Amino acid sequence: MHYPSVIAMDGPVASGKTTVGRALAERLGYRFVDTGVFYRAVTIAALDRALSLDDDSLSELAERLQIELLDGSDRVLIDGSDVTSRLRAHDVDATVSSVAKVPGVRRAMVVQQRDTAKGGGVVMVGRDIGTIVLPDAVKVYLDAPLEERARRRHAELTGAGNARSEADVRADLELRDRTDIQREDSPLRSADDAYVIDTGSLDLEEVVERVLTLIAVEQPE
Ligand code: CDP
Repeated sequence: MHYPSVIAMDGPVASGKTTVGRALAERLGYRFVDTGVFYRAVTIAALDRALSLDDDSLSELAERLQIELLDGSDRVLIDGSDVTSRLRAHDVDATVSSVAKVPGVRRAMVVQQRDTAKGGGVVMVGRDIGTIVLPDAVKVYLDAPLEERARRRHAELTGAGNARSEADVRADLELRDRTDIQREDSPLRSADDAYVIDTGSLDLEEVVERVLTLIAVEQPE
């Protein structure tokens, strides 16, 4: 069986994109690129500079920043300094969607993301990969019921030593989803030609198998 060389994977918070995307990339010997990290990096830089979060300041910052993803998106450098340990901090989680809705920020990130996908052999995950960043890619959209996604994210955060309650995690997740879905510039939605998978009652291996079955092609591209 052959597989397309560029795979775009989108979905809401904790729908399984990162885990599934990573496992899929490993199975196919592809690179894994988590585009959420780009928006998290801009957010960290804005918080560090105590920048006012207006469109012009954020766009200008995003244009200037040099963001590097290393080790399959596991590590990230901003202008050469490693900010990996802060990517999923609560202040970043709480601010990232407001930063990501700014059109100038998105324009700058999309340029960098397209550049990263050049040459193929890539699984890229995010919110607008199938609709905007890589519209020619094969597209997968993962979703799961809110309760299940809140449970997953709470378990992840608890595992990382964070003491927030599941109700708080769920409220944050709902707010971030709403901001991502309702923004004017490249809102979160499944592309018309995406394969949509509900990951709510499937384990990781089952989702990966389903994706591989859906995207397989008989002839190489
Ligand atoms: O992993 P999780 O689903 O919590 O979030 P993420 O993928 O790290 O993305 C963090 C935030 O960045 C999202 O809530 C979006 O606001 C934004 N984002 C985006 O706008 N477009 C993308 N392609 C990826 C992320």
